[in-house]
Amino acid sequence: MSELTLRRPDDWHLHLRDGAMLEAVLPWTTRHFARAIIMPNLVPPVVTKLDAEAYRDRIVAALPDGADFTPLMTLYLTEDTDPDDVAAAYAAGLVRAIKLYPAGATTNSASGVRNFDKVRPVLERMAGIGLTLCVHGEVTDHDIDIFDREAVFIERVLDPIRRATPGLRVVMEHITTKDAVEYARAQDDTLAATITTHHLVINRNHILAGGIRPHYYCLPVAKREIHRLALRAAATGGDARFFLGTDSAPHTDANKLLPCGCAGCFTAPNTMSILAHVFEDETALDRLEGFTSLNGPAFYGLPPNEDRITLHKTPPSYPSRIDTADGPVTVFDPGFPLQWSVS
Ligand code: DOR
Ligand code: ZN
Repeated sequence: MSELTLRRPDDWHLHLRDGAMLEAVLPWTTRHFARAIIMPNLVPPVVTKLDAEAYRDRIVAALPDGADFTPLMTLYLTEDTDPDDVAAAYAAGLVRAIKLYPAGATTNSASGVRNFDKVRPVLERMAGIGLTLCVHGEVTDHDIDIFDREAVFIERVLDPIRRATPGLRVVMEHITTKDAVEYARAQDDTLAATITTHHLVINRNHILAGGIRPHYYCLPVAKREIHRLALRAAATGGDARFFLGTDSAPHTDANKLLPCGCAGCFTAPNTMSILAHVFEDETALDRLEGFTSLNGPAFYGLPPNEDRITLHKTPPSYPSRIDTADGPVTVFDPGFPLQWSVS
């Protein structure tokens, strides 16, 4: 096969940042994607309906000329979040999900949740109105090994929340383990999981063997090879509960290459090329459209995009790093030559 036409894809987990970085990274998403769930972990975070309206307006103002792109906004759940504000933001069609960061789990998560009982009223309201909770699924306890934090979160936090809040729609975001794949497969259709591009490609050796490679460091951190294989099987296996959320998370090279560098891989420019490669390797090119363009809208209750994109078997061209007013941002390097490009 040398040509593949798909409905235009959506990205169900994206970091666009703000200001100069937003201007620089947004065109790389809008080239291919029609919609994206926009992460709220700005400084300060996007907490209220008013914050989300203002951020949406800044994204729309930064859109390249002629771009056809809809940002699907989220609110950052804090222990002080007001259930009425959440419900109003959803009723207005502004907000499509609420984001749960355990406090301290990742970039700009200091305002996240410490005591899950405090957010119970919000979760109950969300279950009542059908609003999705997007979950960064890692515990933050210092005594839990970083490679175990996702599996422990499922058992200690996620499963108890779901049992206590029947009907709550949950997306387990950027899953990185076989444990998460198995948990997701065993649940009803109120649960789904996103998978990033980079977690389909790298395991922890890519970060650590033969030298430390900060551009492969993200959270949740990539795990052992068995976990990567489980993610590939989930993404390419046709189960509609799994769909694409790139977690494309730009940081300047200066911030990645510090003694304590930032977590995040910037995959917006080459995600579709990498995914075509991965799905072809798994002889599953016929399932790529489900993963990128159908399963996500179905879970969120939105129609799939009517426009199409075509992938050709031609090496893609994109820069290895992009310039921003804050400094260069390195594009994720899959480590193998890419063969598919989007025309
Ligand atoms: O690698 C990551 N980067 N994981 C996250 O959860 C946050 C993100 C970011 O905002 O940089
Ligand atoms: Zn993220």
